[in-house]
Amino acid sequence: MAIAIYPGSFDPVTNGHIDIIVRAGLVFDKVIVTVMDNPRKTPAFTLEERLEMLVESTKGMKNVEVDYYHGLLIDYVKQKKAKIIVKGLRAISDFEFEFQMALINRKLNEEVETMFMMTNNKYSYLSSSIIKEIASYGGDVRKLVPSPVLKKLTAKYIQKE
Ligand code: PNS
Repeated sequence: MAIAIYPGSFDPVTNGHIDIIVRAGLVFDKVIVTVMDNPRKTPAFTLEERLEMLVESTKGMKNVEVDYYHGLLIDYVKQKKAKIIVKGLRAISDFEFEFQMALINRKLNEEVETMFMMTNNKYSYLSSSIIKEIASYGGDVRKLVPSPVLKKLTAKYIQKE
């Protein structure tokens, strides 16, 4: 069984992430979407909130699971007996960092492959930080995030005003 791990901060999950999850689900037998710590970022949403948004947003996707892990991605992949890491690429600007991560992860365990999926061009401009910025100024993000995320963004940024 081909199990793919799709790791990220998902702070919050966007329609761009969902597009990758759906497409990865068509290619692999099982996709585990794993919320992990990115030491370069301070999340706006708690781990519980990010998990809840992911679980609700992937409801009905039969071969998709949501999980979390604190630690090295490559250790998690081994623990899950998986061999594939899936990453989305939006632009050339993503490439350098993702290339470095893929090489480091291969150095740590050469049996694990990182596979990149190009974003749907509809979502190439989307990122979790852009979503939070728009929402924090009261902008309309309805077409950019799944509805469970919209609820949380509204509660966090709009109802506070
Ligand atoms: O959505 P993000 O923030 O781009 O996801 C990055 C993430 C969480 C996948 C990355 O920071 C990560 O793999 N974190 C776990 C620690 C790790 O294994 N780092 C890579 C080797 S240094």
